[in-house]
Amino acid sequence: MAYKVCIITHFVGRLKFSMPQKLVVGNWKLNGSLAANEALLKACEALAGADIAVCVPFPYLAQAASLLNGMALGAQTVSEFKSGAYTGEVSAEMLAEMGCRYVIVGHSERRTLFGEDDDMVGRKAAAALRAGLVPIVCVGESLGERDSGRVMEVVGSQLGAVWESIGAQGLSRAVIAYEPVWAIGTGRTASAEEAQEVHASIRRWLAKYDVPAAEIRILYGGSVKADNAAALFAMPDVGGGLIGGASLAAGDFMAICRAAVAKRDC
Ligand code: PGA
Repeated sequence: MAYKVCIITHFVGRLKFSMPQKLVVGNWKLNGSLAANEALLKACEALAGADIAVCVPFPYLAQAASLLNGMALGAQTVSEFKSGAYTGEVSAEMLAEMGCRYVIVGHSERRTLFGEDDDMVGRKAAAALRAGLVPIVCVGESLGERDSGRVMEVVGSQLGAVWESIGAQGLSRAVIAYEPVWAIGTGRTASAEEAQEVHASIRRWLAKYDVPAAEIRILYGGSVKADNAAALFAMPDVGGGLIGGASLAAGDFMAICRAAVAKRDC
C-alpha cells in the first residue's frame, strides 16, 4: 500500500514538475492610446509564479516595450510573408525586432472579419516560428457548431491545418488558445468543466499527432474575468488565459494574474 502511495506521489510530483507555470496573455484588440496605455502598463507588473504577456496594437509596440515591468510583449497578428510588396503587412521578423516574444494567430475575429482561413493561420504560425516568436494559435467553435456536437471536429481541423504547416515539432513550441467563439466578448464564459473537457480533448489530439502534449500550454479565452479566473485555472488542462476586455483594466488583469499564480500547482 505504502509502495503504491509512493509511486502515485512520485508520478503526480513529476507531472506537476513538468507542467510549466500558467501563462496569462492580455489581448488589447483595437483599443488604446498613448496616455491610456501608459496608465495601464504602469499599473501592471510581472508576478513570480506566472508568465504574463500583453499583446498590443502594432503602433504601440515600442511604447509598451519600454513600460513592461517584467511582462512579455506580443502582437495580435502577423503577416505570413517575410518582406516585399505587401502593403500594410507586418512581418514576424519586425515583431521580433520590436521585442515581441508572442504573437496571436488565428483569433476568431481575424478568421470571421478578415477572412483568415485555417491554411493561412498555419502559414502565419510558421512565419512566427521562423522569426523565433511563440505563436499563440487560437481555435474554437461557434455556438451552432457546439450545439450540433461538432466541437472537436472543428477544433481538430483548425489544429490539423497548423500541424500540416509546422508539424509536431513546431506545435511543441507553440501555445494553443481555446476560445469558443460564443464566449468572446459576450460575457458568457464556458464553465470550468466545459473548458476542461475541450482542453483535455485538445491534449489527446496533440498526443495522437506526436506533439509532446503534456508540456503544451493550452489557454482558455472568452469572457475570463477576475471572478471566474480561479475556477478556470484550477482545471488540470487549463494552462492559463487569453484575456480580452478584462485586460484593459489594470485591477482586473492583475487579479486574473494573481489567480494564475495561486493555481500554478494545480
Ligand atoms: P474577451 O476576449 O475576454 O473580451 O471575451 C478574449 C479574446 O478575444 O481573446
